[in-house]
Amino acid sequence: MRIAVTGGSGNVGRRVCRELAAAGHETWNIDRVVPVPAGGPSRQADLADLDEALRALAGMDQVVHLAAIPNPYGDPPERVMSVNMALSYNVFEAARKLGIRRVVYGCSDSATGFGIHEPPLRPQYVPVDEAHPCWPHETYSLSKYFGEVIGEKYSQAFGMQVLSLRYAWVLYDTLLPRVRDLAASYACGQVPAQPWFGAYISVGDVARAVRAAVAFDAGEEPCFEAFLLTAARTMYNLPTLDLLRRIYGELPQVAAPQIFAADPYASVFDLRKARRLLGWTPRDTLANLDRWEM
Ligand SMILES: NC(=O)c1ccc[n+]([C@@H]2O[C@H](COP(=O)([O-])OP(=O)(O)OC[C@H]3O[C@@H](n4cnc5c(N)ncnc54)[C@H](O)[C@@H]3O)[C@@H](O)[C@H]2O)c1
Repeated sequence: MRIAVTGGSGNVGRRVCRELAAAGHETWNIDRVVPVPAGGPSRQADLADLDEALRALAGMDQVVHLAAIPNPYGDPPERVMSVNMALSYNVFEAARKLGIRRVVYGCSDSATGFGIHEPPLRPQYVPVDEAHPCWPHETYSLSKYFGEVIGEKYSQAFGMQVLSLRYAWVLYDTLLPRVRDLAASYACGQVPAQPWFGAYISVGDVARAVRAAVAFDAGEEPCFEAFLLTAARTMYNLPTLDLLRRIYGELPQVAAPQIFAADPYASVFDLRKARRLLGWTPRDTLANLDRWEM
């Protein structure tokens, strides 16, 4: 298949392009900044401009949409919102106009409203799954959530197939020195004074999920599916239910106790849908950091 990866020059995009090319897809990097040293075909485009998006995505069978400002920390909040919204709208709209039926959308676990949010809201139940209501209330998370909503509406209205991958904090090569230090301190039992869910994922596990989403068999039907993706365990050496007690004082309802019985350190996010529909399970944890395929 001929697949466009928007943001293919970025930290996640470079690894995703490699994964899709290795799976035999003709993989095009569509980015404001090209080419990247890894090579591969590319088109330079500012996707904030709809005409440029139309030109860049012409002739593609699918789009993996990753281009974005990937966090709320370096830009004014209104810029994070306006850039991410414009890019998502333009990519879905260009795909619709060009007759590209499938978009795999690079969302975020923060679209659920849990993670980088103040005040932290207490989930209705854990593990948090895709059926849990989304409560984002922070600029980046809202922008990722609204991007997913565009995809859902375009699927309903125009018959598109949209798969939204809500992945956690992505760990890639240049972050590894910092991650090693974090992993060492957490392995000794440290937990931050104000802990969060401790969700993360290796860039390889994200790339494998994108590969599975591209190959997902939806037949000819329109579809919209969201998937939560994290490493199997939290970052902390503290049982997850104790972590949740520490965050919220009182434990939220535990909807699937068997998950925490099987692994007391399991992710706060429910990974069963990704396993069931995409055949995806995370391979990488902080415990096998030296064996990650970057
Ligand atoms: N990094 C994480 O921890 C994380 C977690 C969850 C979701 N995500 C999502 O994954 C995606 C990729 O994140 P990343 O960490 O690789 O970010 P990144 O900043 O490394 O890559 C983003 C890419 O998008 C490109 N881009 C930005 N504006 C553009 C425009 N107007 N036109 C064309 N290209 C443009 C940039 O040039 C860059 O190459 C983002 O959508 C992000 O929201 C990231």
